[in-house]
Amino acid sequence: MRTRPLKVALLGCGVVGSEVARIMTTHADDLAARIGAPVELAGVAVRRPSRVREGIDPALVTTDATALVKRGDIDVVVEVIGGIEPARTLITTAFEYGASVVSANKALLAQDGAALHAAAEEHGEDLYYEAAVAGAIPLIRPLRESLAGDKVNRVLGIVNGTTNFILDKMDSTGAGYQEALDEATALGYAEADPTADVEAFDAAAKAAILAGIAFHTRVRLDDVYREGMTEVTSADFASAREMGCTIKLLAICERAADGASVTARVHPAMIPLSHPLASVRGAYNAVFVESDAAGQLMFYGPGAGGAPTASAVLGDLVAVCRNRLSGSTGPGESAYAALPVSPMGDVVTRYHISLDVADKPGVLAQVATVFAEHGVSIDTVRQQGRLDGSGEASLVVVTHRASDASLTGTVEALRKLDTVRGVASIMRVEGE
Ligand code: HSE
Repeated sequence: MRTRPLKVALLGCGVVGSEVARIMTTHADDLAARIGAPVELAGVAVRRPSRVREGIDPALVTTDATALVKRGDIDVVVEVIGGIEPARTLITTAFEYGASVVSANKALLAQDGAALHAAAEEHGEDLYYEAAVAGAIPLIRPLRESLAGDKVNRVLGIVNGTTNFILDKMDSTGAGYQEALDEATALGYAEADPTADVEAFDAAAKAAILAGIAFHTRVRLDDVYREGMTEVTSADFASAREMGCTIKLLAICERAADGASVTARVHPAMIPLSHPLASVRGAYNAVFVESDAAGQLMFYGPGAGGAPTASAVLGDLVAVCRNRLSGSTGPGESAYAALPVSPMGDVVTRYHISLDVADKPGVLAQVATVFAEHGVSIDTVRQQGRLDGSGEASLVVVTHRASDASLTGTVEALRKLDTVRGVASIMRVEGE
């Protein structure tokens, strides 16, 4: 074993960074044995140096992250500060100064992954980011390496723990969205500003990363259709139950049937209770992968939290250090397929639509005609009259597979009918 240690600069020492530092210390001997050389924490860049960091030598702590990555003797920079800047500049600077990078930064990779990969390649360094998607769950490496000989057709995942906790709570207790969000906040799952999670920005970034790797195609955050889950109601869960379904916030990356394009989207959807993703409870994540040869695979585990995310970071650190010792680099970006990313209108799926309609002769025929005129085939229709004297009824239509564009046209036309008082909800049905 080499005795001269590999030097690691840690950028960020919050929930994840402090766990990375702890595991580097407590598992030092095992890490050295697995890598073939000791790894030394050479510096820790933080914003607030006054905060006590148990187990970290105060002499290593600095507020000058730029100086740390420019030291010239750093082998690996571990970036766990998140956000676009200064993370992007620090990572590119690390490459320029001869270090490889392990990052957990989904937002940055979803936005600028191609440029960062190019910078890593230019300088002959590694860029690894297993922790950026679904915390501890191995996903990037299985998609990039284990499935490199197969053809992935679909990735369907629950990649945000906070929203899965909220939806699970709504489903299992009948709680409304706000009540479930309040509990997620009280338990520390949801942040004070939960926008990134509940409006699905977090999941969309993860979908972009997964789609890019799965389809060997550049997929950026802007390519991902995104709908949050703040408007899911208890009534939607009741409708889902009647269909034998539950509701999950799903990230869905698909190759088109003709193989010529891909789509990536994140939105709430009904999913059959028999689907493996339906039983993913609480804040857990799971990703279901469908490929030509392997068939169906499911990856499940904790998608967030300090120690689980640090586990993924440490796995990357070991891989990058091994590459360094052997004078090689791991796989870089694979975007050779360069498939076009189609807009949401091209996505084909089934829909569950709840309408409030006038309860009088001919209304059902009128509604059915609008679906027919837009080429959307109806699978089932269920009408429930009301006893409140309103003269209205609830109409639930479940369609066969249709394009999102056709469905959007259908709904626009339905809204124009006098007899349609309102469109209570539209929910896609997935995983059948
Ligand atoms: N906020 C994310 C979640 C974890 O709730 O899953 C970090 O990606």
